[in-house]
Amino acid sequence: MTATQSIQPVLRSDYQPPTYWIENVELDFDLDPRETLVTSRISVRRNPEQSSSKLDLAGENLKFQSVAVDGKRLDETQYQLRDDGMTLLDLPESCVIETKVLVSPVTNKSLSGLYQTSGNYCTQCEAVGFRRITYFLDRPDVMTTYRVTIRGDKQSCPVMLSNGNRVSQRSLDDGRHEVVWEDPFPKPSYLFALVAGNLRCHRGTFTTRSGRDVALEIWVEPQNIDKCEHALVSLQKSMKWDEDVFGLEYDLDIYMIVAVNDFNMGAMENKGLNVFNSKYVLALPDTATDEDYMLIEAVIAHEYFHNWTGNRVTCRDWFQLTLKEGLTVFRDQQFTADQTSAAVKRIDDVSGLRAGQFVEDSGPMAHPIRPESYISMDNFYTATVYRKGAEIIRMYHTILGAEGFRRGMDLYFERHDNSAVTCDDFRAAMADANDVNFDLFDRWYSQAGTPELTVTEAWDAAKGEYTLTMTQSYPPLPGGNPGTVDRKPVPLPVRVGLLDAESGEEIEQHGGVVMLQSESESFTFGGLTAKPIASVLRGFSAPVRLRMQRSEAELAFIMAHDTDSFNRWDAGQTLATKLLIDAANVISEGGNLELSGQFRDAFGRVLHDDSVDEAFKALALTLPRESVLGQEMAVIDPDSLHTARQFYRQQLAESFQSELTALYNDQAADGAYKNDQQSINRRRLKNVVLAYLSALDTSESVSLVAGQFDQADNMTNKQAALSLLANLDVPAREEALAAFYKKYQSDPLVIDKWFAVQAVSSREDTIEQVKRLTTHPDFSVDNPNRVRSLIGAFTQNQVRFHQADGAGYKLLADYVLKIESANPQLAARLVAAFNSYRRFDESRQTQMQNELKRIAEHPGLCKDVHEIVQRALR
Ligand code: PHE
Ligand code: ZN
Repeated sequence: MTATQSIQPVLRSDYQPPTYWIENVELDFDLDPRETLVTSRISVRRNPEQSSSKLDLAGENLKFQSVAVDGKRLDETQYQLRDDGMTLLDLPESCVIETKVLVSPVTNKSLSGLYQTSGNYCTQCEAVGFRRITYFLDRPDVMTTYRVTIRGDKQSCPVMLSNGNRVSQRSLDDGRHEVVWEDPFPKPSYLFALVAGNLRCHRGTFTTRSGRDVALEIWVEPQNIDKCEHALVSLQKSMKWDEDVFGLEYDLDIYMIVAVNDFNMGAMENKGLNVFNSKYVLALPDTATDEDYMLIEAVIAHEYFHNWTGNRVTCRDWFQLTLKEGLTVFRDQQFTADQTSAAVKRIDDVSGLRAGQFVEDSGPMAHPIRPESYISMDNFYTATVYRKGAEIIRMYHTILGAEGFRRGMDLYFERHDNSAVTCDDFRAAMADANDVNFDLFDRWYSQAGTPELTVTEAWDAAKGEYTLTMTQSYPPLPGGNPGTVDRKPVPLPVRVGLLDAESGEEIEQHGGVVMLQSESESFTFGGLTAKPIASVLRGFSAPVRLRMQRSEAELAFIMAHDTDSFNRWDAGQTLATKLLIDAANVISEGGNLELSGQFRDAFGRVLHDDSVDEAFKALALTLPRESVLGQEMAVIDPDSLHTARQFYRQQLAESFQSELTALYNDQAADGAYKNDQQSINRRRLKNVVLAYLSALDTSESVSLVAGQFDQADNMTNKQAALSLLANLDVPAREEALAAFYKKYQSDPLVIDKWFAVQAVSSREDTIEQVKRLTTHPDFSVDNPNRVRSLIGAFTQNQVRFHQADGAGYKLLADYVLKIESANPQLAARLVAAFNSYRRFDESRQTQMQNELKRIAEHPGLCKDVHEIVQRALR
């Protein structure tokens, strides 16, 4: 492939239906580590809307063997081969095309297509990996049924799986055997999967509400067979929830999940045969934290929910990715909210959105949730498509209510089951089912950037009227990308409530959602006897940055009284952000710091509030992360921010030492590990409290943390203590790291944690430590989890990654260049850490820019990294 060929962007506006449709496909695999023979027979029929007799099939990294049409081998005048595919020049209206290719799973380190992981075979086809397996119409609007024959060695591949139902199995000569699978549901090629190897199965069942028994199978490497029960229970809960909430039943008689160690993403929803990063399957209390348990449940749910939102109804083209991802993320968020606490889940999700998506949406990669162009589709599995996409779906839900949303979903499935559709089709179903006009919502799909919502208030004492004026605008974005200019106002559902300024009570008649449909509008609330305190954007009802002038006293009031938990928490975060940025500015000007009395009091009230659950309290006591604080600074000053935040942590710990200690001891008195919600919440609070106590950095506090590390009977408490120790400069640190390594060295998921706690340490020698760890025998550039746990985690360490001498930047750039040719997707994700370079001071900007240029000039740079870097430098 020449450079210019590969860097042509694909445009949304260029969509064309295919010249042929595929009626069915038969795939044949003769498994071999270096030379797997793939034979495919596709029955095609000309698209009646097109008259061309030419057919382009995509193909990449394939060793071509032969092509035949209706049993006749073609000669070289009848087809053209390219590095990215093959054109069949003159096909009849319908025919069977048979191709034979060789692929090499063992040398495939990109983890796209057919590859080996821990000696087993596995595939990953989304978005465009199927073309690395065979020549095909590798595009999601081509849906067809698959019959798959797998032949492999009985010894090394006792288990051979594909989508759908196993229809036959037989022994062959030479120690090989053969299995045939048939998937009755038409699907696009990105949902194809094949897995083969030495795997064990953890089984369960689910009976659907119409009484069908579904076999549930979780396939893992033999040593992990005892770590699957949580995943299985999560799957059963997900299946039940989708029936209860959306009336959606599972459609095959078998649902399989396979856990693999080498995987670029979290998991993949292949029809009937999900492939998961083992991180989102395997769990025992001794090896997985409460957060891991929660993530496993959420990812299992997410992939399961895709069976309807993604598989039964799929995307017409990849620009529509948010059609399935935004919707499915929203569904998994609602599921988790129902299993745990809706308020806490919402806070966790919005913090994630602000920390990740807001940053993306204000930098060079800013794109609409439905992008207009891409060079590599893999670069558009983004926080924007997923998380902002989910926020857009949430707004339909907020506007229509749960019942109206359900009517829209029902109509969506009624209209589009078994087809490949667009975001417009989804919007139309929501509108038509409810007789609501969602035309303006189109702007949410075509505009990039986070809107700012400025709210001002006015009080007319004579009339007893309180008015909120809301104005929306878009901050400018680095130019050149579609969706970043000429942006128009978007429809914003803003949930508001008024609180009595004396009693703090909710003024019931005024709560609800107001719709801001234009640039600016005023909303007046009458019949009031005194000026109320407004609670605006409750539940974070729209994905915007809220700008509202608030006194510290008002924020403290909302923290104490709001009936909306999200805003209670958010008021605290707003107050803390304001104070911490002031403090950072004081530091950079060489002034003296002081803890705000206002904030100390507010913190104390939260600490003593017995009306909230422990998980909420844990969140309310947590200061905003450094990366979130940075976003609110004109020029990010990582050092001053870090010092300011440390100062606050230490001052709060000193001010409340006895209360914190008492709270810690109370939570610590729980006895042996349990994993019910209440115990999880209590551990969450306990570890937030321990983090404050550790900020005291006294010998007592160190032994408290070290004591928790030594005595912990579960990974949540152990890891929490280890990550605190990792920040310290005490002998207990090295002892704990060594003990942890020794105990868990055979468990890669736990060793990932060991790498990560060191990479996110705030110690001044962190860069040196990270460099040293890249030479550790357990570090591997081929394993994405390991690379993310060391290099990825390090880029999230704002104060150390952005060390003024640029050593962190160099480290990242070196690693990106080291892995880019083997695993372009992973390299592109890592390099995105440079995307915020314009937000830093000149010296840091220049250093980051220089690293970006060094990468850009690398000969033969893969197109994934090329796309990110050229957007950043533009
Ligand atoms: N479709 C997967 C999900 O969100 C993510 C994924 C994308 C996995 C691309 C692998 C490759 O559930
Ligand atoms: Zn998904």
